[in-house]
Amino acid sequence: NKITVVGAGHVGATCAQRLAEKELAREVVMIDIAEGIPQGKALDQWESAPVEGFDSHVVGAQDYEAAAGSDIFIVTAGIARKPGMSRDDLLKTNAGIVRSVSKEIARVAPDSIIIMVSNPLDVMAQVALDTTGFPRERVIGMAGVLDTARYRSFISLELGVSVEDIQALVLGGHGDTMVPLVSYTTISGIPLTQMLSQERIDALIERTRKGGAEIVGYLKTGSAYYAPSAAAVQMAEAIVKDKNRILPCAAHLKGEYGQDGIFLGVPCKLGEGGLKEILQVELTDSEEAALRTSAEAVRDTMAALG
Ligand code: NAI
Repeated sequence: NKITVVGAGHVGATCAQRLAEKELAREVVMIDIAEGIPQGKALDQWESAPVEGFDSHVVGAQDYEAAAGSDIFIVTAGIARKPGMSRDDLLKTNAGIVRSVSKEIARVAPDSIIIMVSNPLDVMAQVALDTTGFPRERVIGMAGVLDTARYRSFISLELGVSVEDIQALVLGGHGDTMVPLVSYTTISGIPLTQMLSQERIDALIERTRKGGAEIVGYLKTGSAYYAPSAAAVQMAEAIVKDKNRILPCAAHLKGEYGQDGIFLGVPCKLGEGGLKEILQVELTDSEEAALRTSAEAVRDTMAALG
């Protein structure tokens, strides 16, 4: 099997390394327009194989022929957010990039599954869906796994309990309008609301909402990539191993959650073939309202793209 990462920048190269170290594919391909970058990074990663003990072969290329027949593409090509820049500022540039990348994917691997990472996420996933003509089962966006990971990591710090014991669900669009579902947040089954005051929970949610910006604030010259790459690779792993994991992902909705024709973060079952099922969970009135607001934000960005 073969997994290709498009964009050998911060997120893409870290994805490739994680894929190889987990041996999720026999061959891991990195593609980037920047000459020499994917080749150099891929060779460097491959040279770590004897030390780390993995046999996934990592190769880099400018040309999509190297990616022919890939089972999965993780698309990270684009421009990253700079300080003070909103995700939506990236819109037009990244849409052009994602369109050209999607055309190449459909050409060299018409049966592949796309995990979109490039921002603005929900709209870039739509661009990939429209450009490739793939069914919605094979175009999925990464956002909720990252947002949930941030939320879980903050809860872990606050409570001093293992991150592994914290289950949570963050729905909605990738951005300031994300919808963390407090009612579905548990610590080994114990509702978070029994362990923390509403005031503290609100503070953690606020930090989660601004999680991306917090990292940009520190890095100044780029945005987060360790947690984003871990999240994208977890989705790839669920698909490669047919794990039937329930993960919050951006999926193309056809009436679910009262939304039609847009990508939005919802609980998805991921396994062989990609998106197997969208799970409908009960929401409180305020969560429902927040999800509608989030959907409006995605629609506004779609409209801005024209
Ligand atoms: P980066 O700037 O380090 O890497 C982007 C790479 O894309 C560069 O190497 C660039 O040469 C390449 N590229 C540009 N046009 C291309 C094309 N037409 N074909 C192939 N490669 C092309 O950026 P970084 O930090 O890796 O972020 C990548 C994207 O992922 C950004 O859009 C960023 O906003 C997004 N992102 C999304 C997250 C999410 O939760 N969905 C989280 C983190 C980042």
